[in-house]
Amino acid sequence: MQHEKVLILDFGGQYNQLIARRVREHNVYCEVKSYKTPVEEIRAMDLKGIIFTGGPKSVYLEDSPKADKEIFNLGVPILGICYGAQFLVYGLGGEIGAADKDSAAEFGRTDCNFDTKSLLFKGLKKKSVVWMSHNDYIKKLPDGFRSSAHSEKCPFGAIENPERKFYGTQFHPEVNHTEQGFDMLGNFLFKVCGCKGDWTMESYAETATRELREKIGGGKALLALSGGVDSSVACKLLANAIGGRLTCIFVDHGLMRKNEGDEVEAAFADSGVNFVRVNAGERFLKKLKGVSEPEKKRKIIGEEFIRVFEEEAKKIGKVDFLVQGTIYPDVIESGLGDAAVIKSHHNVGGLPSYVDFKEIVEPLRLLFKDEVRALGTALGLDEKLVWRQPFPGPGLAIRIIGDITEDKVKILQDADAIFRAEIAAAKLDRDINQYFAVLTDMRSVGVMGDGRTYDYTLALRGVSTTDFMTADFSRIPYDVLEKVSNRIVNEVGNINRVVYDITSKPPATIEWE
Ligand code: XMP
Repeated sequence: MQHEKVLILDFGGQYNQLIARRVREHNVYCEVKSYKTPVEEIRAMDLKGIIFTGGPKSVYLEDSPKADKEIFNLGVPILGICYGAQFLVYGLGGEIGAADKDSAAEFGRTDCNFDTKSLLFKGLKKKSVVWMSHNDYIKKLPDGFRSSAHSEKCPFGAIENPERKFYGTQFHPEVNHTEQGFDMLGNFLFKVCGCKGDWTMESYAETATRELREKIGGGKALLALSGGVDSSVACKLLANAIGGRLTCIFVDHGLMRKNEGDEVEAAFADSGVNFVRVNAGERFLKKLKGVSEPEKKRKIIGEEFIRVFEEEAKKIGKVDFLVQGTIYPDVIESGLGDAAVIKSHHNVGGLPSYVDFKEIVEPLRLLFKDEVRALGTALGLDEKLVWRQPFPGPGLAIRIIGDITEDKVKILQDADAIFRAEIAAAKLDRDINQYFAVLTDMRSVGVMGDGRTYDYTLALRGVSTTDFMTADFSRIPYDVLEKVSNRIVNEVGNINRVVYDITSKPPATIEWE
């Protein structure tokens, strides 16, 4: 089926993929392409609309990105954002001014007034906060244009030529700080471009599968499957695309949560891919014996993981493609360009040095975390995997304070499983961003039955966070905590005390080690 299509013309702005994401949220298919894309190629795309992104340069500079002006003659609606709006003005004969001491440069939250007769602002409040970030400003409009929004400093907060369906905003409607930004983009897509919103994650899955087939052809691919949502979704997608020409290596280091290794295996063993589960628990425990220092634990696990992966990969021999579950925030965090290669296996500490492959494939590179989950659901991936919380590469090793033994792993797995089950039963599992149990190295005195006990203290941790860089402890209701505590002390041996961690990050971190 041919979908309605919108082009996001990339002028080098930092929010370009965010614009793409917003368009997808409106169920409209979009592609991001360079401003250098030949206009004939753009014409052939049969577009419903074009969005010009922001960009770091000044439009009047020689070397600033400029699209072929023929783009204005395609008869396709255009929305220019920030630099994109300035390029629209400049390209059609208007003027852009440079900032000086009393110029209209604005940064951050700005009150803006909208003309709600404009299609772009139809149905919206007349005044709200927008996110501005510009040094240059629109000085003189091209013929046929008018202002449709203004702020205190900026008479041309938004501009338009409704006859030609050209619109521009000096602010960024795609960022959350712009209060009505999502609806403005919706107005552009539906009211200006006449889109109906015919695109879904199911269609994304279809397109991505087709593209992977074309790219990989008859070649072989290798994926390090951690069981985390990203690599699991990448696996499912690849399984659909190339089936038996994909090999997944799942290194089970024995430090997964209760039943997790089996759940991962169950989800992939019959999916048509070559699935290799390496049960390396004993090997990891041996290496970790007597080690209490957190960094040392991490290092040992990272290195051992690579060794196991290498040994298995060697058995497979040369592969053409190495698949990575890199998602867009990873790409942003590491800087664009070659970043994804550096980021590879950030979970396990680095890329195996010898693995012999031609090219890296990153099928999720343009998606955000929640979109990856939606894609996983569309692909029919097990809910448990789709909604898995972040889980550190070193696993339970960094949730067992002090040295690690098989018994302690078992105690923690059982206690953690109860905590997770009760959080799910209280329907809090999608609200708390990460929650887990930690086996402290501390023992204290208790009384059970009529006898004295001297057993471990278990700590529960639950945090709310969006970026995992800072976090607040979750206000889990006391009755839920009470139930968890009761069940753990009664059902899990060697725990006689349960505490709840009420520190935020900073000063603490989310994990205890
Ligand atoms: P911290 O403890 O630094 O954790 O506040 C922030 C987030 O990162 C996760 N985390 C890891 N993830 N490999 C990972 O892939 C690791 O080694 C690792 N250590 C911590 C942690 O679970 C939290 O979500």
